[in-house]
Amino acid sequence: MTWLITGGAGYIGGHVVRAMAAAGERTVVYDDLSSGLAERVPDGVPLVVGSTLDADLLTRVLRDHEVAGVIHLAAKKQVGESVEQPLRYYRENVEGLRVLLDAVTDAAVPSFVLSSSAAVYGMPDVDLVTEDTPCVPMSPYGETKLAGEWLTRAVGRATGLRTACLRYFNVAGAKSPDLADTGVFNLVPMVFEKLTAGQAPRVFGADYPTPDGTCVRDYIHVADLAEAHVAAARRLAGSPGSTDLTLNVGRGEGVSVRAMVDLIAEVTGYDIPAEVTERRAGDPARVVAAADRVTAELGWSAKRDVREMVESAWAGWTRLHPEALRARAERTRTEG
Ligand code: WQD
Repeated sequence: MTWLITGGAGYIGGHVVRAMAAAGERTVVYDDLSSGLAERVPDGVPLVVGSTLDADLLTRVLRDHEVAGVIHLAAKKQVGESVEQPLRYYRENVEGLRVLLDAVTDAAVPSFVLSSSAAVYGMPDVDLVTEDTPCVPMSPYGETKLAGEWLTRAVGRATGLRTACLRYFNVAGAKSPDLADTGVFNLVPMVFEKLTAGQAPRVFGADYPTPDGTCVRDYIHVADLAEAHVAAARRLAGSPGSTDLTLNVGRGEGVSVRAMVDLIAEVTGYDIPAEVTERRAGDPARVVAAADRVTAELGWSAKRDVREMVESAWAGWTRLHPEALRARAERTRTEG
């Protein structure tokens, strides 16, 4: 059977396509290349360039490739941008999903995996976030992910479409340097960027009610996350009846910003002490997954640790920014 991977030219999508191929699954990528890169799509995997708002093209692709399952990752994903451009986020993330689900149900495609986010929880006031923790998203981005889950589950109930909503925690790392994230929107690349510029990395607040005062997150290696998609896809394809899964995809282990910044210093060899700045608006103190349901349902758990995330992310960063290594060598010479 063939799986349609929307957003398959993106950072996470590129990993999902490879994990599916490694598991022997056939895929076709559907991506508008607004942030995805055609070179992330491996040889032998068809790439259709198009928008999830294009109902006719989606219908054609589902039919022409005899698609029997969809993994939907195509979406806008910057929290700050979603505050500035809510209409765009609702159009791309919610309307795009609606159009896709319309085509999927019309074509009687039986299985659908949705890319969701821990952002649906907002500011959870619990030690470990379970899938039953109330969802109170704090940004239009998180709202569109939650609305997308509602829509997906409602369509599943109405039509028998088998669905899995995967709530990603903090994704980092790369399977290989050429698949690394090219954006600089999250902690790890933001620290790399500062170090490369010879500037102090920033810690947004050290007065949180956490052991070292900095925010705690659940970081997950993108290759582990990709394998969770394979497990979800197989689970849906192999289920005889209706299936409606909503699963946290994290490691269940909290890591503080301070610990992450220290690890990055160790891995990169840069010794520029971090600077503690004001809290960033909207940051919850602690968001860590309860990850037992995903293991129980899919038999999946993360294998790669935080060091592997940082090392592989650094390999990707220095491929894109070779000046990062030159700048470090320069510093070592001057200091030595
Ligand atoms: C992690 C921690 C920052 C940069 C967001 C979305 C989530 C998901 C992942 C989606 C926070 C701190 C960061 C820096 C810092 N997005 N930080 N210095 O905010 O947990 O999650 O991205 O697809 O839905 O909400 O991730 O990587 O931005 O921040 O101290 O230079 O690092 O304050 O505590 P976040 P992040």
